[in-house]
Amino acid sequence: MSQQESALVLITMMMIAIMLSSSQALSIFIPSQQQRPPTVIPEPSSKPLLPVLLMHGVTVDNNSMTYLRDFILESNPGTIVLSLPCEDRLGSLFHPMAEQLELFAQLVEQAKAQYGFRDHHLICHSQGGLLCRSYLQMYPKHTVRVFVSLSGVQNGEFGIPGDKSWEIVLKDKFPFLWNMTADEIYAVFYTDAFQKLVSVANYWKDPYHMDSYRQHSQFLAIMNNDSTTVDYASKYHFRENMLRIDKMILNGSPQDEIIKPYFSAFFDYYKYDSSSNALVTESMKLQSFYINDVFGLKTLDREKRLFIQRVPNVTHKEWITNQTLYELYMRPFLY
Ligand SMILES: *[C@@H]1O[C@H](CO)[C@@H](O)[C@H](O)[C@H]1NC(C)=O
Ligand SMILES: *[C@@H]1O[C@H](CO)[C@@H](O)[C@H](O)[C@H]1NC(C)=O
Ligand SMILES: *[C@@H]1O[C@H](CO)[C@@H](O)[C@H](O)[C@H]1NC(C)=O
Ligand SMILES: *[C@@H]1O[C@H](CO)[C@@H](O)[C@H](O)[C@H]1NC(C)=O
Ligand SMILES: *[C@@H]1O[C@H](CO)[C@@H](O)[C@H](O)[C@H]1NC(C)=O
Repeated sequence: MSQQESALVLITMMMIAIMLSSSQALSIFIPSQQQRPPTVIPEPSSKPLLPVLLMHGVTVDNNSMTYLRDFILESNPGTIVLSLPCEDRLGSLFHPMAEQLELFAQLVEQAKAQYGFRDHHLICHSQGGLLCRSYLQMYPKHTVRVFVSLSGVQNGEFGIPGDKSWEIVLKDKFPFLWNMTADEIYAVFYTDAFQKLVSVANYWKDPYHMDSYRQHSQFLAIMNNDSTTVDYASKYHFRENMLRIDKMILNGSPQDEIIKPYFSAFFDYYKYDSSSNALVTESMKLQSFYINDVFGLKTLDREKRLFIQRVPNVTHKEWITNQTLYELYMRPFLY
């Protein structure tokens, strides 16, 4: 780190300490529920699907998946569809991903015990997409058949989403973030305090500061086997665990306004190119986790069990509110 960077980190740490010591309750900004859009009525099928578990995104709760649940039930009446009440609203932002993953895994087990099923599908939105992907590679006894990721933040985030998402909630609690740009925020997000407090910090992947990310990210760097110290892939058998699923479906859209870059949803990412001094797009197939088949992505792809659907003109929340999108890009994969 340069002297300037060290100073920035030091100032940041002091600010964090001050913030954390104030016991003031969090004030809340929660985006309001959208009106249900007009839809086509699907032909119902007589057969229920395997149970479908839904996992919501950050700063909302499990009821944000109500439309999607209803779409599934309209098409396949009798299906068990549960939107898991994992950490919600503020909790989904102000808990580290590792803790949320543990709770998620418990809720899956509870649902299986309560309803008495084994095999099931997972449909997960946004931050939930990364949570579910991590579940699949960390939990050897999972019984997931089809995993659908809806604009999942699979390969990290680098960009401020605007006031429709976590930005406003975070800045309300930490006002000093207001005047920081995406390029500067790593100095805050890669501190131990933020890694242990803010979910977004856990998957913040700054292409200009990849060494910091590898060293300090306490979630994404683990799940992508980017850590400099521990071979998590071997320790937890990522590949073997993931390959228990049947199919992985990755849905996203260039018009997504929240996931930055939107192509993180497809495991592509930014790469800093020093010769042009610019960020370029590096595709999934060039990512080291793909090349080394760290969590089975290459195998899924080779065996045609990986489906990437880049759908134009879909905004972030539309994935969970537009019935046509369910009928076209989710239902055909479920059984
Ligand atoms: C739902 O998605 C379909 C397919 O992308 C699109 O044609 C339609 O306009 C969307 N409906 C609404 C209300 O946005
Ligand atoms: C959200 O979770 C609660 C239980 O905590 C449940 O009663 C409710 O039905 C869930 N919402 C959906 C859409 O499944
Ligand atoms: C951000 O910068 C503006 C203009 O430079 C300043 O007026 C404002 O007080 C700053 N906000 C915070 C929270 O530091
Ligand atoms: C994971 O990372 C470790 C440490 O960098 C490396 O030794 C190991 O080969 C990687 N595992 C896979 C499956 O690529
Ligand atoms: C996306 O939406 C814009 C504006 O509504 C429209 O002009 C454009 O044709 C759409 N693109 C696609 C590929 O549907």
